[in-house]
Amino acid sequence: MVRVGVLKDSDGRVALVPQDAASLVKKGVEVFVEKEAGLNALFDNKEYEEAGAKIVTREEVYSNGDVIISVNFPLDLKLREGQTLICLTYFLWHRDRALKVADANATLIALDAIPRITRAQSMDVLSSQATIAGYEAVILGAELLPILMPMLSTAAGMVKPVEVLVIGAGVAGLQAIATAKRLGARITGYDVRESAQEEIRSLGAQVLQLEGARTEEKGGYAVEQPEEFLKRQQETFEKQASRTNLIITSAVVPGTKAPVLITKKALENMPAGSVVVDLAAQFGGNTEVTKPDEIVEYGNAKVVGYTSLPARKPRTASTLFSKNIVNLLGLLIKDEEFQFDFSDQIINDCTIVYNSELRHPALKSKEQ
Ligand SMILES: NC(=O)c1ccc[n+]([C@@H]2O[C@H](COP(=O)([O-])OP(=O)(O)OC[C@H]3O[C@@H](n4cnc5c(N)ncnc54)[C@H](O)[C@@H]3O)[C@@H](O)[C@H]2O)c1
Repeated sequence: MVRVGVLKDSDGRVALVPQDAASLVKKGVEVFVEKEAGLNALFDNKEYEEAGAKIVTREEVYSNGDVIISVNFPLDLKLREGQTLICLTYFLWHRDRALKVADANATLIALDAIPRITRAQSMDVLSSQATIAGYEAVILGAELLPILMPMLSTAAGMVKPVEVLVIGAGVAGLQAIATAKRLGARITGYDVRESAQEEIRSLGAQVLQLEGARTEEKGGYAVEQPEEFLKRQQETFEKQASRTNLIITSAVVPGTKAPVLITKKALENMPAGSVVVDLAAQFGGNTEVTKPDEIVEYGNAKVVGYTSLPARKPRTASTLFSKNIVNLLGLLIKDEEFQFDFSDQIINDCTIVYNSELRHPALKSKEQ
């Protein structure tokens, strides 16, 4: 029998919701949930107990679970030999913590290393959380702007629609475009990947064209751009900024520092009362002034650097995250046992530490 422990997260999301705890219990999994783990997402202890889970202390989650699940990479990491931790790791930024898992002879499944293949879509935590981040970025931007989003024709006169620029049209950027569209804004979208252009257009936004990018993709992801091209991007956005009220940036290349695309000059060029929501804040930020988890005022803009926007909608975020986790566990649990079949690409790619062995090339290469 597999024993799954659910840790309480610091950002208020929970990795397993009661409904999914019930489905695991039905399949013969024993579930231990840290006291009040779901409270911030409005799932109380009683709901977990009714689902057949046991409410325990944090120490008991660590001591009882064969598999420990968490949204974020826990700081306390009280893992023992043979245990498996499943969470978002961003292990290239938190390499020390990944090594600590290996030191404990434990196993680490990085949800952020699940391959972007069709079969893995139902387990893709990055996508489910990025969807919420994109939505929330627009809602937050609309809240901070001193003007309305849609065009209005009133007896007191016309109100012009807000001009929105979305830079980076991955999962979060496309959701930001769709959300801004629903609120009636006029939107321009941009991405270095050519395949993103059609998606931007299909959501009713204009495409900003800029020749000369490295457009190749690695596993669906963009590649790093040369200095010279980044400079041209900055200059383009400096011009575009003067007619843009809300900029949402989400440009990242996994494993690297986010490119600085919005300069101080661009922020000075924006109309008074403008807002920039930087979804790359966690990876160094897409603006020159972004500070993680702060709102910085510079030039004519407020630059929002919140690093955990999905946590601002904890109930939806947890519900989707939990479903992703249950789908992943469905792949890992066979005949009521936890099994690592490395011939399966999904299991192979996301198991970055296996019983002390560093399996991910990036962890291995830095080891030497
Ligand atoms: N399972 C699947 O098949 C699956 C699931 C999710 C996403 N995807 C694909 O994976 C890809 C990455 O999606 P993501 O949301 O994780 O992306 P991401 O969060 O890694 O990056 C966000 C966006 O930033 C863009 N970007 C990088 N550098 C830039 C620059 N200098 N200027 C402008 N834009 C820049 C990227 O092209 C990307 O669209 C997309 O093609 C997406 O459709 C596939």
